[in-house]
Amino acid sequence: DLNPRRNISSWLARWFPRTPARSVVALKTPIKVELVAGKTYRWCVCGRSKKQPFCDGSHFFQRTGLSPLKFKAQETRTVALCTCKATQRPPYCDGTHRSERVQKAEVGSPL
Ligand code: FES
Repeated sequence: DLNPRRNISSWLARWFPRTPARSVVALKTPIKVELVAGKTYRWCVCGRSKKQPFCDGSHFFQRTGLSPLKFKAQETRTVALCTCKATQRPPYCDGTHRSERVQKAEVGSPL
């Protein structure tokens, strides 16, 4: 098929799926990180990054249709960032990882 418009839209649909994949549980405990004031971070939303709790581009390469959460640290301090991806206060851990729902889930699978 040499129709360029069709090729572009199938490329877009392949790499940016309209229906996003579900986040998967990366780990079941938060990771403590020292954030530096003024610095911007990209927290992994899809759970597929190998550089938890931050993004390594896996959301794109695994064609999840998800995007990382970009945030800027207001002050320099150590925080616990969520890795189970079930927190209600992303990117911060809110203790949800202790719930039975997360503890019974399989690492690498959605809740
Ligand atoms: S690691 Fe997700 S809520 Fe604690």
